[in-house]
Amino acid sequence: MSTHLRSQQWFGRTGKDGFIYRAWMKNQGIPDEEFRGKPVIGICNTWSELTPCNAHFRELAESVKRGVIAAGGFPVEFPVMSLGETLMKPTAMLYRNLASMDVEESIRANPVDGVVLLCGCDKTTPSLVMGACSVNLPTIVVSGGPMLIGRYEGRDIGTSDIWRFADAVRSGAMSQEQLTVAEACMCRSRGHCAVMGTASTMACMVESLGLTLPTNAAIPAADSRRKVLAQYSGGRIVDMVREDLTLSKILTREAFENAIRVNAAIGGSTNFVIHLLAIARRIGIDLSIEDFHEQSAGIPLLVNLQPSGQYFMEDFYYAGGLPVVVQALSDRLHPGTRTANGQTLLENCASAVCHRPDVIATLESPFKSETGLAILRGNLCADGAVIKPSAASPRLMQHTGKAVVFENIEDYHARVDDPSLDVDETSVMVLKNVGPVGYPGMPEVGNMGIPRKLLERGVTDMVRISDGRMSGTGFGTVVLHAAPEAAIGGTLALVQAGDLIRLDVSARRLELLVDEAELERRRAAWQPSHPVADRGYVSLFQQHVQQAHLGADLDFLHGSSGSEVLRDSH
Ligand code: FES
Repeated sequence: MSTHLRSQQWFGRTGKDGFIYRAWMKNQGIPDEEFRGKPVIGICNTWSELTPCNAHFRELAESVKRGVIAAGGFPVEFPVMSLGETLMKPTAMLYRNLASMDVEESIRANPVDGVVLLCGCDKTTPSLVMGACSVNLPTIVVSGGPMLIGRYEGRDIGTSDIWRFADAVRSGAMSQEQLTVAEACMCRSRGHCAVMGTASTMACMVESLGLTLPTNAAIPAADSRRKVLAQYSGGRIVDMVREDLTLSKILTREAFENAIRVNAAIGGSTNFVIHLLAIARRIGIDLSIEDFHEQSAGIPLLVNLQPSGQYFMEDFYYAGGLPVVVQALSDRLHPGTRTANGQTLLENCASAVCHRPDVIATLESPFKSETGLAILRGNLCADGAVIKPSAASPRLMQHTGKAVVFENIEDYHARVDDPSLDVDETSVMVLKNVGPVGYPGMPEVGNMGIPRKLLERGVTDMVRISDGRMSGTGFGTVVLHAAPEAAIGGTLALVQAGDLIRLDVSARRLELLVDEAELERRRAAWQPSHPVADRGYVSLFQQHVQQAHLGADLDFLHGSSGSEVLRDSH
């Protein structure tokens, strides 16, 4: 066994190199037998006090270690770049690819045989999975779990209420003092956002891909069963090393198709598209944006969670969690996809029982008939755009209106509440230069707030279009990820105030109703106006980031370099 362990290329050596590899570990008080043939398990930790959603991960790592040790492995915890969605400026997405490089190189460079990925807040999950895929060791994911449900003035609240509170303050319906009280009421426990936002979507994604033990997605962070799952995961990764169950043996094309179908049924975040594409390209699976339409066609929304519905992740867990959804979809899923525990996804979920039909509906009587995400095409998004019909207004699914154009996010903030802004409830709000290159980093600003003068008249939704993203906790009739983006000369860059735009979600079309000759004239006169970095990581990012329909990864990070270290002597 020990001769096959990758870690023995370090710890199993004789001579000077072996001396150095072991001796410096011994300064931590680690006895010799720990290095003699035990699987070495790296615990890749995104703990950070600047990532509040992951601030409990040191404790979770201790549970993982207990499992590793009990199963005969040797755990070693290491930090990687952590991406806190709420604090990082200009946007955590700018750093997803950088964090993935840290993860990839940290794993490959070190004497580990298998890896446990501790992730929670939005970008921490895709960045860790992307990096691990480019090494392809046996790997298991442990999510941090969602927060408990918030309570404010007698009602349940979660992150999606931020947008409602913000509009209420702007329209005068809520005071600043009430808003301050609501802050503490919403985030009252450890964990990530408690709605089906991006973090919860990512937790469901890794479970449906087969990268976790069953029930990982929904156990609240504060629930002691989260630690139990972490301990079991620590035990299981040791066996995964013994079985050589690498990521590429789990992440097959069928596993990705299953994840897309499950995501449709749970009403997952629009960010699911961009992150799953990036992960697929790292592990070498040919996935395109069209797959998101084809694979989810005919799958209705089963899960009644905010922002598409009423409830929270805590409710989802008590209802039975993701295994109930998988079981409900069993006829529509590939049966043979293997998961981290060695069983198939369907075998893991065969005995799942739904305890809350109001939270998880059935295929026969779904919560909503619309599927979770729709992929749009048209001259405004030749390479695609994304909308979440389940979180949009049915009356706006087919809509034609005049464009109100904001050239960038600063222009939006300067003019949106101007009483003289030429806008009404039929207008289509267009925001440019918030794409991967243009911002840069594709921030979550696509669900622009409604102009104050319309809010005061009771308007709560309008068609909004951008090349940016939207928080998974957001909602509204919001078209996102338009590609090519404005900053590289996509048609979005050519939209002018007053142009007519037609959205038809059932036909999957998004069209700028301006004739081609006029568009050509505008294209010839167009000049980029986005900021361009002249040094450092941001400069590298702007030069190499790909468009949203390719996952917004850096072009040189596609694929895997494997786990072999090519030059390995001191
Ligand atoms: Fe971390 Fe929402 S801010 S998951």
